[in-house]
Amino acid sequence: MNNVYDNILGLIGNTPMVKLNKVTNSIPAKVFAKLESCNPGHSTKDRIALHIIEDAEQKGLLQPGSVIVETTSGNTGFSVAMVSIVKGYDCVLAVSDKTKPEKIAYLKALGAKVYICPANVPADDPRSYYEVAKRIARETPNSIYINQYFNELNIDAHYLTTGPEIWEQTEGRITHLFGCTGTGGTLSGSAKFLKEKNPNIKIIGVDADGSILKGFHETGTINPLDIKPYQIEGMGKNLIPAALLFDQVDEFVRVNDEMSAYRTREIALKEAIMGGYTSGAVTQGLLQYANSHPISEDDVIVLIYPDHGSRYITKVYSDQWMAEQGFVNNCVHNYDEVFGTEYID
Ligand SMILES: Cc1ncc(COP(=O)(O)O)c(C=O)c1O
Repeated sequence: MNNVYDNILGLIGNTPMVKLNKVTNSIPAKVFAKLESCNPGHSTKDRIALHIIEDAEQKGLLQPGSVIVETTSGNTGFSVAMVSIVKGYDCVLAVSDKTKPEKIAYLKALGAKVYICPANVPADDPRSYYEVAKRIARETPNSIYINQYFNELNIDAHYLTTGPEIWEQTEGRITHLFGCTGTGGTLSGSAKFLKEKNPNIKIIGVDADGSILKGFHETGTINPLDIKPYQIEGMGKNLIPAALLFDQVDEFVRVNDEMSAYRTREIALKEAIMGGYTSGAVTQGLLQYANSHPISEDDVIVLIYPDHGSRYITKVYSDQWMAEQGFVNNCVHNYDEVFGTEYID
């Protein structure tokens, strides 16, 4: 039989790359988006969930019924839950009580046990989601804590898969890689592999306005003034993740909520690629970078699109949400006004 898999995990990785034909037209280079939404859990995090769990299996740390613990309501939670089901483990996720009900419903649909912890307590409070996850992992025999921000296997997963895929897909012609950094694993692992192949490849991290990563890369210190609330989920941080290899990154670009939101909607409307908020952010990062750096028509630029837009229907793809943020200029911000919606009785 062709193209059949033993289980859903066989679909992880080998994601396609698609040329952008309109949104980045102002740039002479060829620009490709690597669509991590084509993983079965619809994000790049499938790769790390599978790699970290299989590494623990190889080390003899897991048995049927073992518990996999993580502290996220985001993409990693979905991926860990998915891998746990197929491999016969229990998945426990500690999330903050700010998590939207639909996200918790999604995690439960994938069989996860969810601990909802108060968001407004310090990280070292025993009720915080960090401490709850650590306690469960400590008290449960044969359990592992994924700990994606501080787990080097997060980098390895991308060194072993995402990086080689990009090299092969571009036939070694890639000149620039752009990636949003949350844990930093996707960009760091891919960068490490690609720089070993060709140290001239430029690695550009895209950071959120409100995060400390760009400032830390430039000065080696955390500037408390960089920290402020922002809306883009999954990228940027107010701590330094061990999974981010700063020395692999040539430069960081900082993008804001508003331009990233417009860009996300533009990609859907012009390229028909329904990306998550950080897909818009990484594209915005390239457009800003191109304003101050020479790019030639021989360059081959790869943008990592980390997840699928379906997770953001009530956020960047919602006119109401855009209006609530005050994002009302620059691009389509009201689908009804531009395209019209007719109600037929
Ligand atoms: C939507 C989204 N984009 C980007 C990232 C950043 O990926 P990484 O953690 O590998 O830096 C994440 C990570 O959680 C994410 O959820």
